[in-house]
Amino acid sequence: MNEKKPLLEVRNLWVKLPDEEEFILRGFELTVHAGEVHALMGPNGSGKSTLAKVLAGHPGYEVTEGEVLFNGENLLEMEPDERARAGLFLAFQYPMEVPGVTIANFLRLAYQRRFNKEVKYTEFYKILLQHLKRLEMDASFAARPVNEGFSGGEKKRFEIVQMSLLEPTLAVLDETDSGLDIDALKVVANGVNAMRSPERAFLVITHYQRILNYITPDYVHVMVDGRIVRSGDARLALELEEKGYDWVRNELATAGA
Ligand SMILES: Nc1ncnc2c1ncn2[C@@H]1O[C@H](COP(=O)(O)OP(=O)(O)O)[C@@H](O)[C@H]1O
Ligand SMILES: [Mg+2]
Repeated sequence: MNEKKPLLEVRNLWVKLPDEEEFILRGFELTVHAGEVHALMGPNGSGKSTLAKVLAGHPGYEVTEGEVLFNGENLLEMEPDERARAGLFLAFQYPMEVPGVTIANFLRLAYQRRFNKEVKYTEFYKILLQHLKRLEMDASFAARPVNEGFSGGEKKRFEIVQMSLLEPTLAVLDETDSGLDIDALKVVANGVNAMRSPERAFLVITHYQRILNYITPDYVHVMVDGRIVRSGDARLALELEEKGYDWVRNELATAGA
């Protein structure tokens, strides 16, 4: 048992689309402490991305019941910007394509918002270069326009640079793009591994087990139909890889759940 105060506590969360009856998240529960890496796995449509979007403050979802505490504060009442300032990082909170704006300029704004202070461009550029170096990325990346003509791998690189710069206490990474090649997966994994620390936690959301070959999670959770149905350590991911999601579904059916 971890006696520390949780970083993230999700309690009995029920979420649906505003004009639908059917719930997507059905009593979802999760507790994350600082220093931990959690992997959230599940078949397509189980609600993984919906959870990430609700944590980000996406306006398209309705929370009808439950609560989310971040550092003991009610996350659901915070604006997306406040969430970032409080130390929560979700990659897709940021625009997909911003023509004409360079990565350096875009990141400087995000950095200033996160730390609530103005940083001169030259000073920021030095900081950015340090992060690029740590992630083994080329300095020329900073001068490119945001997401314009980015490959899947470059988008991931951009996310990871943002994560590194913004020094979140909780980073939520949704591996929506299952088409990521091995190099892109390694960029994500190296970024997470380089940033692992006792003060920071990660929630790595993934359908496939393969990224977990590079990131060893402390906990693995399997989500089916809007809630976690099974939790374990890294071995659970390997078991899933071997037996497939039907294994969990069948077990649930047998148990009459
Ligand atoms: N904005 C949306 N519009 C319509 N359906 C949605 C929307 N968001 C989620 N859903 C539905 O909710 C279910 C869960 O989706 P999602 O959270 O994306 O699952 P996962 O990320 O686990 O694949 C799916 O059936 C999906 O079609
Ligand atoms: Mg998804």
